[in-house]
Amino acid sequence: MALFLLLLPPLFFFPSLATLPILFPRAPQSLLANLSESNKYPNLPYSAHYFPQQLDHFSYQPKSYSIFYQKFLMNSTFWERGEPIFVYTGNEGDIEWFAANTGFMMDIAPKFRALLVFIEHRYYGTSKPFGEKSYESADKLGYLNSAQALADYAVLIRSLKHNMSAESSPVVVFGGSYGGMLAAWFRLKYPQIAIGALASSAPILQFDDITPWSSFYDGVSQDYKMCRIIDGFPPEVDILTKVFSAASLYYNYSGSQSCFNIGYEADVHGLDGWNWQACTEMVMPMICSHKSMFPPSAYDYKEFGDQCKKTYGVRPRPHWITTEYGGHNIKQVLSRFGSNIIFSNGMKDPWSRGGVLENLSSSIVALVTAKGAHHVDFRSATEEDPTWLIEQRTLEVEIIRSWIDKYREDEMI
Ligand SMILES: *[C@@H]1O[C@H](CO)[C@@H](O)[C@H](O)[C@H]1NC(C)=O
Ligand SMILES: *[C@@H]1O[C@H](CO)[C@@H](O)[C@H](O)[C@H]1NC(C)=O
Ligand SMILES: *[C@@H]1O[C@H](CO)[C@@H](O)[C@H](O)[C@H]1NC(C)=O
Ligand SMILES: *[C@@H]1O[C@H](CO)[C@@H](O)[C@H](O)[C@H]1NC(C)=O
Ligand SMILES: *[C@@H]1O[C@H](CO)[C@@H](O)[C@H](O)[C@H]1NC(C)=O
Repeated sequence: MALFLLLLPPLFFFPSLATLPILFPRAPQSLLANLSESNKYPNLPYSAHYFPQQLDHFSYQPKSYSIFYQKFLMNSTFWERGEPIFVYTGNEGDIEWFAANTGFMMDIAPKFRALLVFIEHRYYGTSKPFGEKSYESADKLGYLNSAQALADYAVLIRSLKHNMSAESSPVVVFGGSYGGMLAAWFRLKYPQIAIGALASSAPILQFDDITPWSSFYDGVSQDYKMCRIIDGFPPEVDILTKVFSAASLYYNYSGSQSCFNIGYEADVHGLDGWNWQACTEMVMPMICSHKSMFPPSAYDYKEFGDQCKKTYGVRPRPHWITTEYGGHNIKQVLSRFGSNIIFSNGMKDPWSRGGVLENLSSSIVALVTAKGAHHVDFRSATEEDPTWLIEQRTLEVEIIRSWIDKYREDEMI
């Protein structure tokens, strides 16, 4: 496995899509090992629950019916019966991490009297169907794919609505990065369950060929909070010190570490699971030119496919995602067959290259900010938020409100 990681173009793995720490360091292994479940995310305002989920939603072999426990987080403080349910479609990592970084949903919950639910993606965090053996072989990893994950969310949401007598509550799905892709796809595949989706920084796969996204990281600054830290230093301070301090926003090194560890240790983003996804359906070719602070890298699809075959015994299916969810000719197709999706993207986020950047219809809306970074709109509001960010969030709230109002109107008919 380790060999495999080293052989692949590193940038492929940096952007685990898992949001911010991606660009920079992985926390030292010893520190990570110390972050146990309980103290990793202290004071997270959610209660944890475990749902008996079916292993395979798409076949009827006896083993398909095996159960694993899927974690989800919930907060019902603001909820009133009949009022909306906001669901975060978890991505490739511990669900707590995404809950901790998506304060936006908590911020707006009182306005909507919404129930908040964050569902962990299968094969990540503690939602591993085969426990520690889940990544052992393709036989076990075979159930790790986006279609199964979406089906998990659908089944869990139905069960939750039933248990809470919340059948009439409209569901809105939220997701950032890969989670944003899932949120948008969820709205397309399960419109009867979710009335709308807010997909932040989702590089929704639109291409049908294997042309790399060029100059992926060139001149890009990743996160505006990190940038604020960097900009806060006097000019004479060296770049590594600045960047290191910025990274400490996410990893508390307590000043004891003096150098980056740009390794690929197991971390909260579950890169082991992501490697499998990248080797099967999530084929995102990227390169890095010589213009950025990162080492240049090229992309060789054949070499990549060979590595996947060698490691897992399977080859990527680069056209499957666009076949399953659409993506080719996205403008024409989505405007006809989809509705109620917000794609928000910040142009300082390298992933915006793959995002939906124009309005496709009156209800498939692109909110594009010149200064925005990787799903910065999903973070908790702070005193220092710039006007453009406040405006972006306000617009998101207004649009979600309009979906709910329309849903209520239709209910009356
Ligand atoms: C991890 O925890 C142990 C025991 O609490 C402590 O002795 C050690 O210094 C910690 N390591 C790090 C890197 O924080
Ligand atoms: C739900 O959120 C509210 C507001 O943030 C908080 O006061 C409450 O403790 C949370 N509930 C749980 C179960 O964490
Ligand atoms: C709903 O209730 C059933 C029966 O108690 C339980 O097995 C299931 O986990 C519950 N669903 C959710 C989403 O909590
Ligand atoms: C970082 O860790 C140190 C030592 O454990 C602690 O005193 C400090 O408050 C932490 N800083 C942040 C921002 O959490
Ligand atoms: C899309 O439409 C919304 C209004 O619904 C507008 O605020 C936004 O700027 C438009 N997006 C683009 C990329 O033009």
